[in-house]
Amino acid sequence: VSGEQAIGDGKDPLSAEHLRSIIGFALGGALIIYVASVVQVWGDWPRVAAIAVVCVTAMMFNWGVTASLIPRVGVERAEDLRIIPNIIAMVGTGIATHWSVIALLFLPFSAALVHGLHTRRPTIRLAVTIGSTAIVAFVDGADPLLLAGMLGLTAFWHVVAIGKIDFARSILSERQRNLTELATAHKELIAAQQHSIANEKLASIGMLASGIAHEINNPMSFITANVKALLQDLRDEPLLSKVMAEYRADVIPSTMDGIRRVNAIVDDLRRFARGEPETAVPFDLATELNAAVRIARSQLRSGQVLHADFKQPSPALCGMPRQISQVALNLIVNAIQASPDDGEVFVSAGSSNGEAVFRVRDNGSGIAPDVLERLFTPFVTTKAAGMGTGLGLAVAHGMVKAHGGRIVVSSDVGAGTMFEVFLPASLA
Ligand SMILES: Nc1ncnc2c1ncn2[C@@H]1O[C@H](COP(=O)(O)OP(=O)(O)O)[C@@H](O)[C@H]1O
Ligand SMILES: [Mg+2]
Repeated sequence: VSGEQAIGDGKDPLSAEHLRSIIGFALGGALIIYVASVVQVWGDWPRVAAIAVVCVTAMMFNWGVTASLIPRVGVERAEDLRIIPNIIAMVGTGIATHWSVIALLFLPFSAALVHGLHTRRPTIRLAVTIGSTAIVAFVDGADPLLLAGMLGLTAFWHVVAIGKIDFARSILSERQRNLTELATAHKELIAAQQHSIANEKLASIGMLASGIAHEINNPMSFITANVKALLQDLRDEPLLSKVMAEYRADVIPSTMDGIRRVNAIVDDLRRFARGEPETAVPFDLATELNAAVRIARSQLRSGQVLHADFKQPSPALCGMPRQISQVALNLIVNAIQASPDDGEVFVSAGSSNGEAVFRVRDNGSGIAPDVLERLFTPFVTTKAAGMGTGLGLAVAHGMVKAHGGRIVVSSDVGAGTMFEVFLPASLA
């Protein structure tokens, strides 16, 4: 089959295999016409013998060309050669039967069977076969009316055969398309399943964390209250020994700082673990981003700096606040991981054309174009096994999309990366 009409993945679904099976049928059909011709001239032995010789020779030629030439020279060349024995056979049988109806049946017969009629080369082959046979028939005194009728029938068959071939081809290519779609869907399903397994794991870690946070929170509340009271009492005391004065000025305030940090961490852990509210709620972007920044600080290597700037106002939002801080956390942790030991990561928020936007920018490694293309696909990671799951951005993308927002990435290899998350302002 010629490549002119390649379909789908570039391979015509009607193959050489198919051609071979057609030719098997063709030989059977031709045999019937030969037998009918022999019956017609029965008794006129030279003619019977001529038809028999033509029949056997043509059959052998057809079969030989198909079986041995196709593998060697390809379908097209083999088909070009195959018309020669067929023209000789048609002309031979026609002369032997004085161009009877039976012999002329070869014309429509070959039109119905020639393979690949919808492309140019097979159509030329058919025209040469039919044309040359018809000319010889006319010159040799065939009944012109009969000949014209048979040529008409041939043209009709030709159209029918093209229709059938195209129909088969369209069904086959549609099936190929369906199969590809099915394979894609299957792959997505597997990814989604692994994704939910990973989510499940995150959820149980979250539950554990919230349990621990809860346990820490109780003692921390009275530690906080007591230390606060102690500091207050020391401040109210006019006469203090030198040691106690140092406690009041230095030790207790820095202890309070430490306590506030522990409380903030416990708070953040609890808010992350608490799970989402059932319905969308109004929330403040800066508050969620701050929580993410505080948690992300634990990932900084010494020398790395994380800058957060939430001074610019951003529109009121409505949605799942935990998801938004999760998105920010994923982006910030990625930025930290991509940054050098003296790298800086900038997190900022603001508004853009009525939408809320937050940006996470780093001066780290940047993202290679081939990774950039598939960045939000699950399991795309450049990190060593155990270091990255390749789920962070896929999850972030899903969550932002659920909020009607979008993530825009710009990255320069070697210079750094910026992720921008746009979130539509709440209508409420
Ligand atoms: N800020 C960034 N700088 C450079 N590469 C990044 C950045 N953020 C993400 N990437 C690239 O995208 C990949 C996918 O990120 P992610 O989905 O979070 O999965 P993971 O962090 O588990 O690898 C990372 O492995 C990394 O190659
Ligand atoms: Mg990540």
